[in-house]
Amino acid sequence: MVRLQKYLADAGVASRRASEKLIAEGRVSVNGETVREMGVQVDENYDIVEFDGEVVRNTTKKEYIMLNKPVGFITTVSDDKDRPTVMELVSDISTRIYPVGRLDYDTEGLLLLTNDGDLTYRITHPKHDIEKTYVAEVTGDISMDTITQLRRGVEVDGVKTSPAQVEVVGATQYGTKVEITIHEGRNRQVRKMFEAVGCIVKKLRRTREAGLNLGHLPLGKWRKLSESEINMLKKIDIEGSNKKSRKGRAFDGTKKQFKAHSRNSNRKNNTTGRKR
Ligand code: URA
Repeated sequence: MVRLQKYLADAGVASRRASEKLIAEGRVSVNGETVREMGVQVDENYDIVEFDGEVVRNTTKKEYIMLNKPVGFITTVSDDKDRPTVMELVSDISTRIYPVGRLDYDTEGLLLLTNDGDLTYRITHPKHDIEKTYVAEVTGDISMDTITQLRRGVEVDGVKTSPAQVEVVGATQYGTKVEITIHEGRNRQVRKMFEAVGCIVKKLRRTREAGLNLGHLPLGKWRKLSESEINMLKKIDIEGSNKKSRKGRAFDGTKKQFKAHSRNSNRKNNTTGRKR
């Protein structure tokens, strides 16, 4: 048995969170009955799941793609304002894939796309602390004091950002080129961090995420991830996911690790420690 939103995500309909929205909107049925509440479990072998009236089968081959997103594309599958979406850049992939997390319209760089709902969940869930590196071209010079402030955390939307790695890596026509590695994924976080210290970001590019490197992939182009890159992403699970304990499998020493990790991330995220 598997949760309905996970079934939809695994079948490539949408990410797990987006699938929850589709369920709440009444677009999903199980054995002919519309389901709107969360928590419904389905049996992959017997139950018939439909999305917008079409049967959803869970046999799709998993695809993992890295795109070098240019500025001027929105990171969604469709846009009600008719702006170009990143999906137009990967139109030659036949399976239904979707972006993992977001890059702003005016940000370029590494964007993952997949139909693997589990992987999307692991990469986007805040408790997994996934590292993301950006190169920001910002206005003016940056003092060592400012770098230290950014490293220690600055206030963004009323909440201090968690510690970041920050290095000046060059100079540009606008001012300074800074490499910044963060572990959170708050809305327009990098731009807002620089705003908090009085700098405007003129150009922003993501160069690394979850151990993957953009490398020399040309702007607007995509490539499939290699086996070793996919295997590396799958290991994110071990480093802090509660997936195994949720499924009730033996966990032993790693369970202790998970408990310690979730205590730490709850502390960091200032949450009550409630599990999903
Ligand atoms: N931070 C931003 O400000 N924008 C992005 O697209 C990603 C991180």
